[in-house]
Amino acid sequence: MNPRRQFLKTAGSGLIAGMLPVSLVRLSYGATADEGFTFAYISDSHIQQIKGNEFVRNWDRGLIRAVAETNLLEPKPDFVMFGGDLAQLGNKPELDHGAEILAGLNYKTHVVMGEHDYYLDLGKYWSDLYGDHYYSFDHKGVHFIVLNSIITYDDWTFDRWESGERRMSEMAGLDNPNGSPFMVGDKQLKWLKKDLRKVKKDTPVVVFSHSPLQKIYKGWNFWTEDADQVQALLKPFDQVNVIYGHVHQIQYNQIDNIAFTSVMSTAWPWPYPESYAQAESHLPILTVPMNRADPFDERDATGWQFMNMHTGRVDLEFNLYSNENRSLAFNREKGHPEDTTYSDPVNRNRAQSHY
Ligand SMILES: [Fe+2]
Ligand SMILES: [Fe+2]
Repeated sequence: MNPRRQFLKTAGSGLIAGMLPVSLVRLSYGATADEGFTFAYISDSHIQQIKGNEFVRNWDRGLIRAVAETNLLEPKPDFVMFGGDLAQLGNKPELDHGAEILAGLNYKTHVVMGEHDYYLDLGKYWSDLYGDHYYSFDHKGVHFIVLNSIITYDDWTFDRWESGERRMSEMAGLDNPNGSPFMVGDKQLKWLKKDLRKVKKDTPVVVFSHSPLQKIYKGWNFWTEDADQVQALLKPFDQVNVIYGHVHQIQYNQIDNIAFTSVMSTAWPWPYPESYAQAESHLPILTVPMNRADPFDERDATGWQFMNMHTGRVDLEFNLYSNENRSLAFNREKGHPEDTTYSDPVNRNRAQSHY
């Protein structure tokens, strides 16, 4: 059967489905459903000021749409995560405008720091809006940790640039060789170690970061320099999920006990690193590329995710604007997450073609 129709049937709400892509969300079923909960995740809106009250339309429309759709979710998520890069160049008008849109959410919202929010003033104004750069909280038996994974070496941050604006623009480019690898840093590693001390080993742990806490492609900073040290601290726990933004594409991976899942951007899709001619040939194989990247479609491969924690692992519904929605669920027998709607070649769409 056509996977989209199958999905609609599973979701069982065909009436609204025609109008609202959010109703395609598949909810938790089975014995554990009562104990489960859901949260929504929106990321990488990159609100960009043109001048005064004028902002790049594509970017703020993407966030406005995600907020509106999240407010319509049924059942309601327990909270919303925003995954970082709220702003493009981290200035006050951009952060204020982004924060104002996010404030329209009818749910408690937690926010992750992105490099575009940070490198102008090192997160000072962001802190006025959202408080600590890293923190943890507990919710219905799950321990959630938010890290600021986009800091870098002190000499790059403090000694190299004549202004915050210059520093920000050097870090903003995807493949700018003047950038510097992201990291969590010793101070946060120490904090994380202490934070985890009070958590039982069988408690599900979910870590939110902006950059991937794994090493995917250094040239584009799809990378966290001290990821290995973070992974080592998470290793003793039975169930760990790391969820990250920044890459503007679907990625998932499993390293030992840790499942890694990226979230989409509401602004624009980045290409997959292996499509880049100068990329090293030994990129880890972790992505099932989605069929997309229509350069003429401003919304292709952007969207947001609905996450289901009913098993203690995160199952996701990727809600893709202008593309077929996808589901990702943890397969307990196989011990890793699986792309339930896409992995089977039979379910794959043919590549798009252009004139
Ligand atoms: Fe981003
Ligand atoms: Fe980013």
